[in-house]
Amino acid sequence: MNLPTTFQFNRTISTFFLSACLLTGCAEEPSGFQRIDLSASEGSSTSQGLAIEPIEAPAKPFGADVALGKTLFHDPRLSADNSISCASCHVIKDGGDDGRRVSIGIEGRTGEHNAPTVLNSGYNFAQFWDGRAATLFEQVDGPVHNHLEMAANWDLIVKRLQTDKVIVEEFSNAGFSKISERSIKAAIVAYERALVTPNSRFDLFLTGNTDALTAEEQEGYAAFMDMGCVSCHQGKNVGGNLFQKFGIYENYYLTEGTPTQATYGRFNVTGLEEDRYVFKVPSLRNVAQTAPYFHDGSVKTLKEAVRIMSEYQLGTPVSDDKLDRLVAFLHTLTGELPEELI
Ligand code: HEC
Ligand code: HEC
Repeated sequence: MNLPTTFQFNRTISTFFLSACLLTGCAEEPSGFQRIDLSASEGSSTSQGLAIEPIEAPAKPFGADVALGKTLFHDPRLSADNSISCASCHVIKDGGDDGRRVSIGIEGRTGEHNAPTVLNSGYNFAQFWDGRAATLFEQVDGPVHNHLEMAANWDLIVKRLQTDKVIVEEFSNAGFSKISERSIKAAIVAYERALVTPNSRFDLFLTGNTDALTAEEQEGYAAFMDMGCVSCHQGKNVGGNLFQKFGIYENYYLTEGTPTQATYGRFNVTGLEEDRYVFKVPSLRNVAQTAPYFHDGSVKTLKEAVRIMSEYQLGTPVSDDKLDRLVAFLHTLTGELPEELI
């Protein structure tokens, strides 16, 4: 089978429009905020050119800042009691998450969210499930200060690192004049930006190797496009560039899930009623490695996550067979990381 890389998007959700802008003006909306017009009738389609784009390997050789960022990312001195590092919850060699339902911070403190992957996070238009950090740089403050995660502060971290001659040297080699909150964050961000996973079989397929996917996987890709998954999971990161409500057709948490404060999503950030249950659409790159799923880690398998998406996001219950195809396609989104970053 030989599929084109961009599908005509021809059913269910055929029109994007900025409903919030139409109603209230666009001023307060962060860029990229789109809502979907679900009333668009079948047949009224126009090609939106919605597509998944391939990603490329970052330029090499990596600078000394990337190496320093890697060291800091794995350094437990960033936590109050020297017990956990960023990598405790974002295991780079294993999908960039921690495999837990929700993360566990210092002293066994249980968080409220499932850890998303840090791989390819540089492609996300905002960070955290609710998008409350605009950039990776801003994001670093979150885990460092969060009392359920590292519960530390920059003064403490800077003082600790300053007593270590080896790391002082590494900062200087990376071109930083001193160890500071700013230089620590900058190095971590340089490392995170290098954590790109190109050469997934799907990327190879998109860039012309039509044999890279089996017939079943190509059918899964066709279903992903045709059903409208791509209306939310799109672009280079197959997600990460929109906020959307979880539970478009029905409220998942009232019917199947267990609501917590985290369930309110962006409502916790903006206080706007229309943002209740709204989340950053997560990237689906490497998703086969990042179970359990959803912001609360409530779902153990990819198949179950896809079933819920089909029903609650698209109002289209799908056969077991189609679910298997969609899942087979999602498995092709697992990419590669250079050994030196792991
Ligand atoms: C205790 C576990 C834990 C630690 C330690 C931790 N994280 Fe996270 N990380 C999480 C969780 C949970 C989230 C999601 C939180 C949310 O959305 O509110 C997250 C979110 C992120 C995100 C956003 C990804 C996205 O797609 O939105 C990035 C980037 C990130 N962490 C990087 C880091 C860095 C850098 C450090 C170290 C300074 C770190 N994390 C330490 C658990 C952790
Ligand atoms: C209307 C937008 C929308 C559509 C359409 C959509 N999704 Fe999602 N998807 C989301 C949002 C938002 C989340 C995050 C929900 C949460 O965690 O609360 C998500 C989460 C997921 C996850 C879990 C990812 C993770 O890391 O936890 C998978 C897998 C997924 N979607 C696959 C699909 C598939 C396959 C389809 C098509 C059958 C689809 N989605 C259709 C918005 C959408």
